[in-house]
Formats: sequence, structure tokens, C-alpha cells
Amino acid sequence: MDALTTYLEQHRDRFVDDLNACLRIPSISAKSEHRDDCRRCAEFLAGELRKLGMTRAESVRTPGHPVVYAEWLGAPGKPTALLYGHYDVQPPEPLDLWRTPPFEPVVQDGKLFARGAVDDKGQVYMHLKAIEAHMKTSGALPINLKIVLEGEEEVGSENLAAFLREQRSRLDADVIVVSDTAMLGPDQPALTYGLRGMLYTQIEVTGPSHDLHSGHFGGAVQNPANALAAILAGLKDAEGRVTVPGFYDSVRSISESERAIMKALPFDERAYLAEAGAPAPFGEKGFSTYERMTSRPTLDVNGMWSGYTGEGSKTVLPSFAAAKVSMRLVPAQDPNTLFAAFEKHVRALALPGVTLRVIDMHSAPPWSCDPAGPMLLAARRALSRAWTKPAALIKEGGSIPVMATFAETHPGLPAVMIGFGLDDDNVHAPNEKFSLSSYHGGTRSVAYLYEELAKG
Ligand code: BES
Ligand code: MN
Ligand code: MN
Repeated sequence: MDALTTYLEQHRDRFVDDLNACLRIPSISAKSEHRDDCRRCAEFLAGELRKLGMTRAESVRTPGHPVVYAEWLGAPGKPTALLYGHYDVQPPEPLDLWRTPPFEPVVQDGKLFARGAVDDKGQVYMHLKAIEAHMKTSGALPINLKIVLEGEEEVGSENLAAFLREQRSRLDADVIVVSDTAMLGPDQPALTYGLRGMLYTQIEVTGPSHDLHSGHFGGAVQNPANALAAILAGLKDAEGRVTVPGFYDSVRSISESERAIMKALPFDERAYLAEAGAPAPFGEKGFSTYERMTSRPTLDVNGMWSGYTGEGSKTVLPSFAAAKVSMRLVPAQDPNTLFAAFEKHVRALALPGVTLRVIDMHSAPPWSCDPAGPMLLAARRALSRAWTKPAALIKEGGSIPVMATFAETHPGLPAVMIGFGLDDDNVHAPNEKFSLSSYHGGTRSVAYLYEELAKG
């Protein structure tokens, strides 16, 4: 075994302890009461990067949560990788469904449970530990590295684009590296070449100026909860197709060759559906489950609220109703064009007697890259060294807003999306976990990735 691999093997347990220190910081970007925790997490990470020997490691203020930046440019003549990750996490609620507290990490059966364990602190730490191993065993990295860790990914990366544009001159690189995606199975490493985009909206329906007795007023004025239900019911048909006019106009059809490639992937549809725990699969006719997940756009209600939802019954006609509705987009859908079409459609579905607000909360265009590029070849070599099976090339249904921003700030720059999540990680849900086999295998993979990128 080489010194690098030996070092990685010998320090496994401490790598978990080090990650745990970061997982204990509740850096929930969506909630203003956790603003200080986000700042604390950014400063903590900047300190960790400094300890690793990275230079210029700092927490940079933005109008929102800070961006962590660090670099190491001691390999002249070698390629420069720009590593992106996020230190913010999703809210942990509902808390009563967690078997152990979300910000008190514990290992059980080879799995590390905590909010952020896999999304994305654990995957950021794979890189920190790979850097450590290179530094400790050879006093240097095989490539130049620039690191950007943001604190607003889970809320749409509102302030990151401005940071990237302002700092553009110091962010020159040859390849972008991101670890915030998944494997295709526990022993099946994967490289992601496509992500869906996102359009996140909120619909607010207001009726009477205050809650009313539903006997004294019911039937005489419009009920905003009923009106909202009518709108939501009009967004998708019974077959699962989105009914917003023009929604599919710019959707590229899946080519026969890509279909064949997707069909040949070792995607375990049964395991995927079993993980969902849904009584039956459901989706657009004429598409496989994998195609529905990665290559077709969709629309989902993420939450809705109105009226009385407590114990027992209450006869009330609520004055207000609202819903959060998000759409996953695919090439070449444009979120701005679609928001206009969406708002128009929602207004057309409004019943008389209510007023509407339709809000564009945040959006991100879809992203894809050439799966045959040379940087991906280097990543495939790295994964072949670290795992028993060669990497699968996959598309993901999730979104990472910065990828489209990079396409603009670094036009034509290849990206390696090398992620180690699993379907049963409970990402964004209670009992999020990172399998230690993924954490350690991922750390080894990215340590090798730096070496393979150095070979060009
Ligand atoms: N890491 C995920 C993205 C992801 C999820 C990639 C599943 C591959 C598979 C990321 O942290 C995330 O959750 N992104 C949000 C973005 C949104 C808030 C704009 C998402 O996809 O919901
Ligand atoms: Mn993530
Ligand atoms: Mn996420």
C-alpha cells in the first residue's frame, strides 16, 4: 500500500471525530435564528482549512451567510481545481421522528447519523481529509486547489453568484470539482453529468380580512383554502403531466442513444422504489422510473397551510391559505420564462372572491456536461482505483444552483461531480446518515482524484 492510502486507513476513526465537530454546529440556512450558527460554522471551517496548510483561508461576509474561501497554489505547472461544497443544512424538523438528536452525531451499524452527515458536510470533509493525507505524507498537493464553501445552497444560493462574479479574477481554474451527489448503489461509484434545475414558488390566497364563523359566513363568501385547493388541483393532470401552458415547449426529448445508455445503467429500480415506501410508482406515461427522476420536468407541492389543523374540530372559514410549489426543470427550460407562464396559469385558476400573490422564491437553470470529457476520464481512473466496480455515468434529479452560475462565470470549464450519497441516506429528512463505507471510500476516491487530475 502506498503512504497516502496507508495514512487514510490509519486515521479513519479520527476522520469521523473531526467531521462530528462540524456536524454539531446547527448551520440551518433557512432560519434566521441560526444566523450566528452559520457564521460560526464558516469560521470553524476556515480555521480547519488553515490548519491543513491551505493559504488565504477566510470566512467572507455576504449579505446572507458567509462564503468560506481557501487556496493552495504550490504546484506550478499542474492543473488547478476549484472545489465547491456547502456547509449549510436543511431544517431538521419534524424533530420527534429523529431517533437521535440531529446535531449530536452518532455512529450505529457503520452509519453516521446527523443532519448534514451526507448533505453536504460529510462530503466536504472527504476533501478536507484527502488534503490532510496528501499534506502529511508528501508535504504538498498534487494539484493547485481553490476551495469555495457556501452557506446558502439549501435556500437557493442567492448571494453566491455575486461572490463568484466579484472574486472572478482569483477563481481561475482548469476544472470544477463538486461532491454533493450520490452513488448508484453501495458498491457502485458514479459520476454525475446532469442535474435538474429548480423553480421555487409560493402561492398566497387571501379571502376575508379575518377568520370567520363557517356557519354564519360559509356559502356567502369565498373560502381561500377551497380556492387554493382548486388552483393546486389545476397544476397537474391525473397522468402526472404539468398543465401550465408552454411548460414542455423547450424540453429536449431523450435521444434513443441516451435512452439505451440509461437503460443499461445498474440502477436498482426496485430498491429505489422500496426506499420511497410509496404504495406504487407514479409518473408520466412512456418513461422509465429513472427517466422520470432525471430527464423529465415535474411539479410538486412542498407544503400547504390554512385554517385549523389542531386536535378535534373547529368550524372556521380561514382568511388565508398558502402553498409552496416547486418545479424541477430539464434542458432547455428557462426558469424566468416558466415563472411568467406559471403565474399566468395560477391567476387563471383563481376563483372569484379572493386575492392572490404568486412569489418567485428562487430558481436555478438545469445543468449538464459532456460525459466523455478528459477530466471525467481522470475521475473514472480515480474511482476505479478506490472501488471494485468502474464508475457509472449518471444524471441526478436534484439541483445545485451554483452549477449554472459556474457555466456563466467559467464558460466551457469542465466539472467533475463526484458524490457518495445513497438512496437510503434520508437526505432532507429525519435520521439523515452517511454510511462510513461511503465516507472512507469517498475520501480515498477524492485523494486519488487529485493525483489523477495532476496527470492531465
Ligand atoms: N445535494 C443536494 C442536491 C442533490 C440531491 C443532488 C439529490 C443529487 C441528488 C443539494 O443540497 C440540494 O438539496 N439542492 C436543493 C437545491 C434547491 C434548494 C435549489 C434541491 O435539489 O432541492
Ligand atoms: Mn447538497
Ligand atoms: Mn440538500
